[in-house]
Amino acid sequence: MTHPWRISLSSPDIDHHDRAAVDAVLRSGRLAGGPAIGQLEQLASDTFRRPTVSCSSGTAGLILALRALGVSGGEVITPALGFIATAHAIRAVGATPRFCDVDRETLCVGLEQLEAAWSDDVSAVIPVDLLGVQVPIDAIVEWAKQRAVPVIEDACEALGSRHGDSPCGAAADAAVFGFYPNKIITMGEGGLVSCRDQALADRVRQLANQGRTAGGFCFEGEGYNFRLTEMQAALGASQWLRLDALIERRQHLAHLYLERIESIPGVVAAPAPTSSGAGDRRSWFAFVVLLEDPRWRAPLREDLAKHGIETGLYFPSIATFAPYDESPSASLPVTEQISPRMLALPLHPRLKPAQIDEVVATLEESLGRIRLEG
Ligand SMILES: Cc1ncc(COP(=O)(O)O)c(C=O)c1O
Repeated sequence: MTHPWRISLSSPDIDHHDRAAVDAVLRSGRLAGGPAIGQLEQLASDTFRRPTVSCSSGTAGLILALRALGVSGGEVITPALGFIATAHAIRAVGATPRFCDVDRETLCVGLEQLEAAWSDDVSAVIPVDLLGVQVPIDAIVEWAKQRAVPVIEDACEALGSRHGDSPCGAAADAAVFGFYPNKIITMGEGGLVSCRDQALADRVRQLANQGRTAGGFCFEGEGYNFRLTEMQAALGASQWLRLDALIERRQHLAHLYLERIESIPGVVAAPAPTSSGAGDRRSWFAFVVLLEDPRWRAPLREDLAKHGIETGLYFPSIATFAPYDESPSASLPVTEQISPRMLALPLHPRLKPAQIDEVVATLEESLGRIRLEG
């Protein structure tokens, strides 16, 4: 089947090395629990400079991290502006999400928002590196330490983001990455949990593997099958070797968008381009624009779709979805104002500059018409 979109929102970048790596696994006959997983975990541990365990998805990684840190109830603070998987993971371990707002510039949670959401029932916090922009993780870790609650960084969108020399995923008690095909690198599905120490990593591994404590039939406590396959790990390890180049390509394309949208009235990039500091590297998981008027969004999406251009709603407030509309929450003025005005435009390493020109020209033309009619 051909892809329905001429210019798709995201696309995995699979090259001949990736195909050869997966093919080698298939030919070996060892499809689970083998050397590819070891290689992937080594690459990840070297990057984050601490023990890292693979698992079947970002959601599984969040569940494992919560469980391994002993969270099985209470309230877990997380931003309402994000992907619903974070709330699902909190619920899955028997805890309740408690929503906080985000900073207007970065679209990420900071100390001010955590402080406003604090309650005596809080058992953990999950800040999210939204769209690849890192939260102020060192300050959050320090803040949480004073309150004796663990921090799990949801870094599913931020593989390769960096604050100076410090890689995203190296500071919180646990940091979780996801590898769905729209992510910076992909394994089809997959996840990683970067852990503060070996004891936590051992616990995550045990939980991900049926509670197995050693080879053979030794089990202790609860467990899941949240393991990665060898095919996934081989693809992930092969892609990992190109991580810097893939991010540079995303960066280059995002900067083309930034230049081109500058002259369009009523449209700005979100988060603000300045929200990543001088020494920071942002993964550029997505390129999102903020429309001045939320009523423009539906007709604009429709126009872009007519031209074969896919867009995405990154992100509706999680607190608006039925499972979570009764969840405890701080007030969410920024999330509520910003979320209905956000629109993600196509961004992936295979996108061509000429396609960015086309997306922006179509957007400008469509908005001109919508404003006239409105
Ligand atoms: C912020 C965030 N958290 C969690 C997830 C869940 O990851 P996965 O789809 O690998 O379970 C995603 C994936 O889209 C995400 O963007």
